[in-house]
Amino acid sequence: MHDETITGTMTESNLGFAEEPYCYLDNLPYLPQHYIDDAVAISHSSYGYLPADRENRTPVYDQQCQFHFSKFITDATQHFGWVAATILKFDPNTVLDWHRDTPRQCALNFLIQEVDGMSHTFIREKIEGWNYNMREVRYTYGRPVLLNTSYEHTTYNFNPTKTRLVLSVTFMSFKYRVPVLYPEVKEYLLNYKTVDYN
Ligand SMILES: [Fe+2]
Repeated sequence: MHDETITGTMTESNLGFAEEPYCYLDNLPYLPQHYIDDAVAISHSSYGYLPADRENRTPVYDQQCQFHFSKFITDATQHFGWVAATILKFDPNTVLDWHRDTPRQCALNFLIQEVDGMSHTFIREKIEGWNYNMREVRYTYGRPVLLNTSYEHTTYNFNPTKTRLVLSVTFMSFKYRVPVLYPEVKEYLLNYKTVDYN
């Protein structure tokens, strides 16, 4: 059964998952175009990598984009302790293999560069052996998605020429030490009032 996920929120179809794997934050606005333009304009050579002890070698642009300095990030930092915006770059014809994020437990993601519907994010929970419950997490350009990254997830970019870009926000209770859990971040975001994140 497919979720009605393009515009809506998951219903009973998170069945099989012990916790909610992801949700859409329909109360929050679209990411304003100027934040997207700023992020998309960053040259690919400016991207780096997370610390060497991290297996994730996805190119990142960490804590330097304009959105990182928005009121939204400042407010969340005051609330949680340490919050950061990172741009993730998924090159053409690549896959970021199944993994859990560490140390963070959840991610607030915005798709900021689409690749003709040719990229896909999946999230899964083990049933038994080689079998899993799985959902596709469908992104809408500029819309916020909260992902429970304590579950294994993967991203494919099948586009042979275009790069997929995702702006990803990390929530920690203080720097790099204690991640904030998905339900707590969801509760905060559902109650956060903004018209433009600034
Ligand atoms: Fe991840």
